[in-house]
Amino acid sequence: MAETNLQILLRRRPQGAPVPEDFEIVETPVPEPQPGEVLVRAQYLSLDPYMRGRMSDAKSYSAPVALGAVMAGQTAGTVIASKAPGFAPGDTVLGGSGWQRFSCVQPGSLFKIAPDDAPLSASLGVLGMPGLTAWVGLEDIGRPKSGETMVVSAASGAVGQVVGQIGRIRGCKVIGIAGGEAKCRFVTEVLGFDACIDHRGDVAAELDRLCPEGIDVYWENVGGAVQRAVFPRLRDFARMVMCGMIAEYNDTTPAPGPNLMSAVRKRLRIQGFIVSDTGWPRYPQFRQEMLGWMQAGRMTWREDVVEGLRNAPTAFIGLLKGENFGKLVVKID
Ligand SMILES: NC(=O)c1ccc[n+]([C@@H]2O[C@H](COP(=O)([O-])OP(=O)(O)OC[C@H]3O[C@@H](n4cnc5c(N)ncnc54)[C@H](OP(=O)(O)O)[C@@H]3O)[C@@H](O)[C@H]2O)c1
Repeated sequence: MAETNLQILLRRRPQGAPVPEDFEIVETPVPEPQPGEVLVRAQYLSLDPYMRGRMSDAKSYSAPVALGAVMAGQTAGTVIASKAPGFAPGDTVLGGSGWQRFSCVQPGSLFKIAPDDAPLSASLGVLGMPGLTAWVGLEDIGRPKSGETMVVSAASGAVGQVVGQIGRIRGCKVIGIAGGEAKCRFVTEVLGFDACIDHRGDVAAELDRLCPEGIDVYWENVGGAVQRAVFPRLRDFARMVMCGMIAEYNDTTPAPGPNLMSAVRKRLRIQGFIVSDTGWPRYPQFRQEMLGWMQAGRMTWREDVVEGLRNAPTAFIGLLKGENFGKLVVKID
């Protein structure tokens, strides 16, 4: 039987938390590459919090997915056919092919990667967009110095696990914040953070105990109650890296914010960033440094691998509730 393409489309825009009915799973013919295009078969799909924003048509830094279109997402896979110079069948590639098994893509959006550097799925996590996010945000904004105290929210997640380990490599005392005992134990025992606070407990009291001098670098992944506990404990000249606020992505009305007057009094540097602004041209430099840390045993990572593309919607809905443990990827087929 001829192979078919499996695609997951955006059927409708979610109201609050996404539900399975917001997605549609379809089977279509495998597309034919046109001149200048490459046909890619995806082996892994990355599921990431930013996809919640793409499902909505609210104004943002990036255009929404159109209704009826394939959900946007990064994949790691293999070139099956090529009508573009520089790519040949069998090449291993990283690119934005979306939630589907086969896709025809322009080579400008593909990175060719060495297949034996690391397991393929790592190129969607520690060696991919989340790892690049951690590296860029610390290089450009966090600028951790030896002896400083760093706090990282969503610490067991795709971005947080890399942020904290780089903090340790740079000589910081690193405190993670994560949901539940198992995640906190992983953060200290496997990732090597100095301590981890369960955000279901009294975060403010634990921060006072673990960071008596205050916090020099705060990596913000979640917002909400965690942000309200961390913010008053920032030291003079602290850097708050505004990476994301996942706790608020499903909100239908905005929560009241922190008192940002402290940014003036304490001369804080609070800067948001989007990894794609400056990250991808530096990808080769990032990949080389990260691979060096991985091969030297200084960087570890955890993945949460879901089997089968049909399970992507349920897994993504769970990610927005903290059900993933580590970088969430889908193994296609
Ligand atoms: N600025 C950029 O360019 C950029 C790039 C990539 C990612 N990001 C942002 O970085 C953040 C982390 O992304 P990731 O890929 O590393 O995701 P992730 O950590 O792998 O998954 C999301 C995690 O967020 C936590 N979470 C979810 N809902 C929460 C809630 N209501 N309150 C507290 N924690 C909650 C959960 O961990 P716990 O169970 O531990 O709470 C969950 O496992 C997100 O905000 C994302 O949007 C930004």
